[in-house]
Amino acid sequence: MTNNISYEEIINIQRKTNIVDIIKDYVPLAQKGKNYFGICPFHDDHNPSMSVSEEKQMYKCFVCGNSGNVYNFIMEYEKVSFIEAVKIVAEKIGIIIDVNNINKEVDNKYSNLYDIYDISYKFYQNNLNTAYGKEAKKYLLDRNIDENIIRQFNIGLSLSNSELYSVLKKKGFSDNDILSSCVALEKNGKIYDLYKNRIMFPLYDLQGKVVGFSGRIYTKSDESKYINTKETKIFKKGELLYNYHVAKKIARSEKNIIVVEGFMDVIRLSTIGINNVVATMGTAVTKHQAELIKKLALNIILMFDGDKAGEKATESYIQQFGQDDSNIKVVRLEDNLDPDEYILKNGKDKMIEHLSHPISIYDFKLSVYQKDIDFSNSKDVSNYINIMVNEINKIDDDIVRNLEIKKLSKLTSVDENIIISKIKPNNNKRIQINNIKPKNIKTTKYEKASRYILHHMINDNNAILYYYNNLSYLPFDNERKLANEIVKFYKKYDSFNLNDFIIYLNDNKELVNLVIDIDSMNLSNEESNDDLDDYFSVIKQYLYDNQIKKLTNELKLETNDIKRKEIAQKIVDLKKKEKI
Ligand code: UTP
Ligand code: MN
Repeated sequence: MTNNISYEEIINIQRKTNIVDIIKDYVPLAQKGKNYFGICPFHDDHNPSMSVSEEKQMYKCFVCGNSGNVYNFIMEYEKVSFIEAVKIVAEKIGIIIDVNNINKEVDNKYSNLYDIYDISYKFYQNNLNTAYGKEAKKYLLDRNIDENIIRQFNIGLSLSNSELYSVLKKKGFSDNDILSSCVALEKNGKIYDLYKNRIMFPLYDLQGKVVGFSGRIYTKSDESKYINTKETKIFKKGELLYNYHVAKKIARSEKNIIVVEGFMDVIRLSTIGINNVVATMGTAVTKHQAELIKKLALNIILMFDGDKAGEKATESYIQQFGQDDSNIKVVRLEDNLDPDEYILKNGKDKMIEHLSHPISIYDFKLSVYQKDIDFSNSKDVSNYINIMVNEINKIDDDIVRNLEIKKLSKLTSVDENIIISKIKPNNNKRIQINNIKPKNIKTTKYEKASRYILHHMINDNNAILYYYNNLSYLPFDNERKLANEIVKFYKKYDSFNLNDFIIYLNDNKELVNLVIDIDSMNLSNEESNDDLDDYFSVIKQYLYDNQIKKLTNELKLETNDIKRKEIAQKIVDLKKKEKI
């Protein structure tokens, strides 16, 4: 392992941890028999399909198949590397490990980029407090952004020429590195700062490291209002959300996340004590971003700008990501205001009032489509009802359905029964946990045999050696890889233990899922080596079968009589062996 925590330490940390306590912090768990169950955070789950075993210290989702130990859970949930997951778990149980060294190792590839952004944002920040920064500071203060917020969000100021470039050169960075960070650009053979006279907002990755900037004009200018860092190896706009690293903790504990368009909205909401907020930064929400948002909290509030564009953005988010999600709610602000402007104009209390009464997706659509309807025109009304019936069909709660039907009837003065006659029966009811069957049960006899062999190997050290000495091959890639790793592990540590082995596999998620799946097969542990011999002959039969098929094909193509005889003989030999 290429870090300074030893494998033994990582095992030790896991031994001191109870996976149930850790996962409970992220997902509510209910005990059912020996195991705990919760909503799986790794797919669009509505019923508790993730089980957590205290005894085995592992989790497993019956629907999507995601499984692993406590580190795998944190890696997937927090989107962090194996080492970072170890650090998070360690911290939760009160062990501090020196992560600076570790992060360096992990991010080594791009450490120059991170260093450049680190120096840049501090440089920008400093400028704001110099005489040169007076006007920019005044702009910020006029916008009600005070010293505290400036510090909290690390807001800064870029200068007029190539000052940052000089600083970075002095620190020893190459032109290449500086240019690839996009804080500077080349023009006519000379290098200049990219951002000139702009108020600088650092942009962070999901873990809170600065990976780019957005620079805003603060004097009258024809230039575009904001300039953002171009995409780099570590900055992908569609994969991050402004303020994610801060919002993630608060959103999880409050079970609520607010999504806005601009980072100024995030900053303003923070001034009134609301910090479970992320911004999409002006572009249409990507699938990646929507998944990040979903993971953060049970309830999502979309509070896009109050104008037509904000309405369109809300619609597009819902259309793409909110088909039957009753946990997505909407806040629409009056007078075309964005959240920042709304708070400045109407104050904290009005904003909180709005946020505590978000409307449902259905009500949002009701009001959007309503705007285009002339209620005295019966054709319009009929169209409107058809559109809204379509929306009601998507609602899976019978009571909500009923209330919406009543509301629609009242609004349009059309009899309730006529509306009901157009509604489809409610098929959206969610599956029960007992109905969930494990996915993709593999059934070919060869695959079955492979899995049985692996099951034996996991449960009996002798089987590992027996496999190694008598077969040492499985026909399927992942199964074979897993068997090889088990053998390697056994040879290295002289014994086999599933928990330690999963740590040893660390970020090889495919093998982790496979080994847990195989471990959870119900087999008796006391089957002897005789059974293994049976499985081995099934696998050998597979190998012979394959070879015979290959030779038969060769035989068809071969025209030389001598060679044909040779091939035929080989086939006969193989067939004999196969029978043994
Ligand atoms: P807005 O135009 O709504 O910005 O764009 P804002 O949040 O209200 O900012 P202020 O109040 O004018 O300062 C929303 C987001 O779109 C991106 C920015 O990320 C901004 O936060 N944007 C906007 C750009 O990238 N470039 C632009 O020219 C404008
Ligand atoms: Mn604004």
